[in-house]
Amino acid sequence: MNNLLITGGAGFIGANFVHTMLSTHQELNLVVLDALTYAGNLNNLTSVRENPRLQFVHGDICDQILVERLLEENAIDTIVHFAAESHVDRSISGPDAFIQANIVGTHRLLQVARSVWEKSGKLEEKRFHHVSTDEVYGSLGPKDRPFTETTPYAPNSPYAASKAASDHLVRACFHTYGLPVTTSNCSNNYGPYQFPEKLLPLCLLNILTGEPLPIYGDGQQIRDWLHVDDHSRGIALILDQGNPGETYNIGGNNEWANIDTVKLLCEIVDTLFKQDGVLSEKYPESPVSKGGLSGNLITFVTDRLGHDVRYAINAGKITRELGYRPEHEFRDGLIKTVGWYLENESWWHAVRDGSYRNLTE
Ligand SMILES: NC(=O)c1ccc[n+]([C@@H]2O[C@H](COP(=O)([O-])OP(=O)(O)OC[C@H]3O[C@@H](n4cnc5c(N)ncnc54)[C@H](O)[C@@H]3O)[C@@H](O)[C@H]2O)c1
Repeated sequence: MNNLLITGGAGFIGANFVHTMLSTHQELNLVVLDALTYAGNLNNLTSVRENPRLQFVHGDICDQILVERLLEENAIDTIVHFAAESHVDRSISGPDAFIQANIVGTHRLLQVARSVWEKSGKLEEKRFHHVSTDEVYGSLGPKDRPFTETTPYAPNSPYAASKAASDHLVRACFHTYGLPVTTSNCSNNYGPYQFPEKLLPLCLLNILTGEPLPIYGDGQQIRDWLHVDDHSRGIALILDQGNPGETYNIGGNNEWANIDTVKLLCEIVDTLFKQDGVLSEKYPESPVSKGGLSGNLITFVTDRLGHDVRYAINAGKITRELGYRPEHEFRDGLIKTVGWYLENESWWHAVRDGSYRNLTE
């Protein structure tokens, strides 16, 4: 692996992956291709933008002429494909964008990769890694065994269905054309740069500003949380040692009901406020600043349509075959993540007031 194309590298996980790869792979050149949708944020790459090994390209994965040029001009030998519409709620209110980006986009990218790499005559030396989700497997009951790579697909939201379709297209390219592909299906991520429409950053910022913490239904939906750096580490391992044609589940063996996750977040923030009086001066609307507790902001709201009850990943295959182990314990990872948001106020202010969309590459 010498020249890597990362699609969706200005989004949450993609940007974290860019940071990881630049620091762990000193010889690697990176091209980031990102359409800068509402979820793409050039501020996610600020600290690495001057790195001569990184090139940012503003563009759409559906633009085959652009992608072909990028692959050829940069002698791309590896693609890690993050670009997608990723928010379940948005897929319920507007599924078309998900079909376009996740299914048509993945299809176009696969077709260009195949055509350019076949022409180069060294198809077997290339790699297309597809980043997918555990949501393709559907919903587990409380006593069901966690998802394995052979769990039948049963997607329940338009988002999950579009990701499932993209997984099938990737698989078909391996079996039909011999394109060297790998796929990873990962559980819920948390960490720096996560767009504050997702549960943890949404609740954290609402605590700081004293706004309600909206919890769907009874909050008993279970998710398997993984720090984004552990996801990046898993993908890097698959690139280095994974076998073409294989899929690998990545998870944290870390199941939490949503309500308990939010209560843990509240407890962490309350402790930090009690330890550091400056925080109360900075965030006077936050409950602890007013003598209360963050948990008082929890507000149960009408459940999401078709809300899956439980996701849980069995990461046995990647553990056994590639030696994968997540490094972040959940509470510690969450404390570090809260610390990141507190230290990077300008990042989330720009997201909240929309000014991040005025940045130019
Ligand atoms: N967030 C999670 O917990 C999670 C878990 C498992 C898997 N995944 C998968 O990981 C990937 C990244 O997720 P994320 O949370 O970072 O998403 P995100 O929404 O934060 O970022 C997606 C990025 O893709 C870009 N993009 C969207 N459509 C594009 C297009 N047509 N062309 C080029 N760029 C485009 C956006 O501008 C954005 O930068 C997705 O494929 C998602 O399905 C996410």
